[in-house]
Amino acid sequence: MSKDIKDRFGRDINYLRVSVTDRCNFRCKYCMPTGKFEHICRSDIISYEKLLFAVSVFAELGVKKVRVTGGEPLVRKKIGSFLRQVSDIKGLEEVTLTTNGALLEKFTSDIKAAGIQRVNVSLDSLKPERYKHITGGFNLEKIIDGIKHAQRSGIGPVKTNMVVIKGYNDDEILDFCEFSAENRIITRFIEFMPVGNFSEWKEGNIMYGKEILELIKTKYEVKEIKKQKLSGPAQNYELSNGAMIGIITTLSNHFCNECDKLRLTSDGKLRPCLLSDKEIDLNDALEKQDREALKAAIIEGLNIKDKEHKVLSEKRDDGYKRTMSKIGG
Ligand code: 5AD
Ligand code: SF4
Repeated sequence: MSKDIKDRFGRDINYLRVSVTDRCNFRCKYCMPTGKFEHICRSDIISYEKLLFAVSVFAELGVKKVRVTGGEPLVRKKIGSFLRQVSDIKGLEEVTLTTNGALLEKFTSDIKAAGIQRVNVSLDSLKPERYKHITGGFNLEKIIDGIKHAQRSGIGPVKTNMVVIKGYNDDEILDFCEFSAENRIITRFIEFMPVGNFSEWKEGNIMYGKEILELIKTKYEVKEIKKQKLSGPAQNYELSNGAMIGIITTLSNHFCNECDKLRLTSDGKLRPCLLSDKEIDLNDALEKQDREALKAAIIEGLNIKDKEHKVLSEKRDDGYKRTMSKIGG
């Protein structure tokens, strides 16, 4: 029997992000440190068997939505059959995927076969040269072809994530609004968080959601879409050109009071908050496949989930212990 879990602040927990690998074929500037970078040791990456066991226990506790993330999830071997097996877990209502899109075309049929409808693709620029620069050399056209291929195969709605970095790609916000309307893609504009390649992050580079919206309003009429339960962190808008867009204001107007999320890292840690390094090690319970011990560890994780993040008020000069590629967004 599924029972809904709540954290100590009464928030329902419905949503689990599962990072299946910290490996990535990209080297996004804001995500991967440029200097020496250590991956999680291969032997510490948890097996699919353990991941599936873990997800089934989360589902028993009331998790209904799972998002598979990375690094880049599609670079892990045999990801197709893993996606199918996750989708079969009893109690889950939806499985989704976040990818950088490079392997989307190749895996579209596996994604379809797993019954995954909604896919989010990281897309920070529509300018080929800039896209190359951000990602460490990747071809924009191939990513857009991959998205279109997935859409033609019936996957959708596809959302793209644009991390808005002032002075770097904020000149493309209106282009993304056009792109969004032309291609029936929901573009989400995300405030630049101090997670990942910390040396690249400066407060002056944040473009806050309010500024993003003001800029959009200089060209389009904007209709706010009422938030629905399980609709995620974005505030969505319909624009007068027909585009649907979302703005994710993790920093300026955080949605911690309605956070329904937990994260499972690829080395078997439960990370209750993206913006806190507090984690619970699940490896012991996973190793023994001990349901009750795992449930107890998950409840412990809920009990350390913060009420809200304090990223802008509690300055830290060393960033977070994990890069974004080791958390999965
Ligand atoms: N700030 C905001 N979003 C980020 N992402 C990665 N690093 C950051 C950051 N520092 C986004 C990626 C991806 C999603 C999982 O998280 O672009 O789309
Ligand atoms: Fe890879 Fe995503 Fe990080 Fe880019 S942001 S390097 S695609 S994990």
